[in-house]
Amino acid sequence: MKLPRYILGTSVLALMATVGAADAAKLTLYCSAQEDWCQLMARSFEEATGIDVNMTRKSSGETFAQIKAEAANPKGDVWWGGTGDPHLQAAEEGLTEPYISPMRDQLHDWAIRQAESAGNRTIGIYSGALGYGYNSELLAANNLPVPSCWKDLLKPVYKGHIQMANPNSSGTAYTTLATIVQLFGEDQGFEFMKKLHANINQYTKSGSAPIKAAARGETTIGIVFQHDAVKQAIKGFPIKVVSPCEGTGFEIGSMSIIKGARHMDEAKAFYDWALTPEAQGLALQVNAFQVPSNVNSPTSDKAPDLATIKLIDYDFKKYGSSAERKRLLKKWDDEVSVLPQ
Ligand code: G6P
Repeated sequence: MKLPRYILGTSVLALMATVGAADAAKLTLYCSAQEDWCQLMARSFEEATGIDVNMTRKSSGETFAQIKAEAANPKGDVWWGGTGDPHLQAAEEGLTEPYISPMRDQLHDWAIRQAESAGNRTIGIYSGALGYGYNSELLAANNLPVPSCWKDLLKPVYKGHIQMANPNSSGTAYTTLATIVQLFGEDQGFEFMKKLHANINQYTKSGSAPIKAAARGETTIGIVFQHDAVKQAIKGFPIKVVSPCEGTGFEIGSMSIIKGARHMDEAKAFYDWALTPEAQGLALQVNAFQVPSNVNSPTSDKAPDLATIKLIDYDFKKYGSSAERKRLLKKWDDEVSVLPQ
């Protein structure tokens, strides 16, 4: 699919003029959204600009660790997608580059606030609420009660029926940990995580894997972003989405330019393009139902409506800070993951 020229940002057009037919234009994209969306973004940008994209999908925490490990010799240009907390941590640690896009005026306040809180080293590209999904056929087959709250997940009847990702690799799972700590306080929150651990059948690397497993009937419940559960339901799997009764956290999925990017012009061109309504609208082709950050982007009535979900006042500054993220992950490693199941 060739995107019409009118949708391209000015920096993309300027770049295309300088690039011409040369084959030198390249972009290395680190992507932390769902694989199919990452592929579509990469291919669509290539078609729109002629710039070759080399894309790798890794979870948010893994990508953060990779960018940090490569800091002396950066290999990536843009990090697109994934939860905002590790993007904020990367900004604080000086691993990403400040940039103010001409597209910025078109964005929701929450996306701009994300940028402002990070010295413009990152920006919000989408938002979505955390929750969980369950396979209604498996739930019935196992005579399990229908869960509706976070605390329901601690009931011994769900032992071996719940899957979530590992918060070290996955931004989804880190958002879960930070949400539980903010909802119940740190002591009670860690007690919650320990009891939950007793019911977990597997910690996956990627955040959305648990609900894909639930769709395939390999686990009954998956703790994921609600839009990831909706995606499986729309594909026709017997997945029901739960917005927990106590309230829930949310993500500001983000995008950052990697400091020392080898292809800085191409990185800025991708960044501007990715903030256009047309690029953000590609999400709907792959049933990615996050709330887009450009106010003019198309949305779907199948997407979870954040206005009707009880959201906590997630403290992104605190939980996206380097010290707090490191501290919470270490505490989870030391006190939760080591417990017997
Ligand atoms: C899924 C969601 C995204 C989220 C991402 C984080 O792809 O659709 O909204 O940002 O997970 O991935 P991770 O693997 O880091 O949990």
